[in-house]
Amino acid sequence: MDNSSIVEVEELVKKFENTTAVDGVSFEVKRGETFGFLGPNGAGKTTTINMLCTLLKPTSGRASVNGYDVSARKNEVRESIGLVFQDPSLDDRLTALENLEFHTYIYHVPKDIRGRRISEVLNMVGLSNRADDMVNTYSGGMKRRLEIARGLLHYPKVLFLDEPTIGLDPQTRNYIWDYITDLKKREEITIFLTTHYMEEAEHCDRIAIIDDGKIITLDTPEELKNGVGGDVIRLKTEDDGKAYEILQGEYPGIEIIREPECLCFKKEKGEDFIPNFIRNFPVRINSIALRRPTLDDVFLNLTGREIRDEGADSLSGLRQMRDLGKRKK
Ligand SMILES: Nc1ncnc2c1ncn2[C@@H]1O[C@H](COP(=O)(O)OP(=O)(O)O)[C@@H](O)[C@H]1O
Ligand SMILES: [Mg+2]
Repeated sequence: MDNSSIVEVEELVKKFENTTAVDGVSFEVKRGETFGFLGPNGAGKTTTINMLCTLLKPTSGRASVNGYDVSARKNEVRESIGLVFQDPSLDDRLTALENLEFHTYIYHVPKDIRGRRISEVLNMVGLSNRADDMVNTYSGGMKRRLEIARGLLHYPKVLFLDEPTIGLDPQTRNYIWDYITDLKKREEITIFLTTHYMEEAEHCDRIAIIDDGKIITLDTPEELKNGVGGDVIRLKTEDDGKAYEILQGEYPGIEIIREPECLCFKKEKGEDFIPNFIRNFPVRINSIALRRPTLDDVFLNLTGREIRDEGADSLSGLRQMRDLGKRKK
């Protein structure tokens, strides 16, 4: 991977009448990278993509894609990019082939290579045998794959995917990611995607977490999770009250949460910590569980909120831990 930047963004701002949707974001995307914007609904992800794709005019700041300024060189930017919108944008009453043909006209793909390009991209997403079927006979996942194929028709340097697997079931999401991963192996392409699914963000080389129009952190998924401050350990013992006191005495730096059924705390390198701990702990241990922090934990740690409302139970311990940390400070 060449280390130069293909997307450069400086202090980009987009204001609508009474909202600042994007509030001064700066970042760079390296050539060949899969870069993600992760954040809750309304964070400003689509608005950012739309400015980078020249569909919206920035209020202030600057951005370039493939070396072209998004305000001054719109045509060159458009030729450099492929775009899959958050909302479906296929014509349901046309066949897959017709949808793709229409796109080759818009993008001025030369007539003599249209056929070859179309069969190439259909093949890429495994839809060759359904090319002549009307799109309204396709499943949600097939439609999404067709949209990705369409985004690739003119060999873009950067493929923008706005919530590529929104509304699809987890199995179909994985399927789509298999295609994207495969594509990255075969083609020199940079991917910029937005998502509010943390599992999806895990596919990125680097992630910017965006909230309320601002980037609150930017790093590799691994580093972001390391920043949470350790693995989450849940301990059940014969006598949690006694265990709590011993833990507090032995590990004065660690916040220990007393939950109704267990004790919960964070420890770096949890897998190294547990064996010794079990051997030496004076209270009888009934069970001990270790959980790696997730990107949800990262978001929660930074904002005090969850990216989405589902899965709140698994996070309640961490939330308590965070609140406790705040109270002590
Ligand atoms: N055309 C528009 N006019 C007014 N407000 C908008 C418009 N587009 C987006 N917004 C607002 O900007 C904020 C960011 O929206 P959006 O970029 O779509 O977020 P995301 O894609 O992260 O869910 C939201 O508060 C949204 O309501
Ligand atoms: Mg959006």
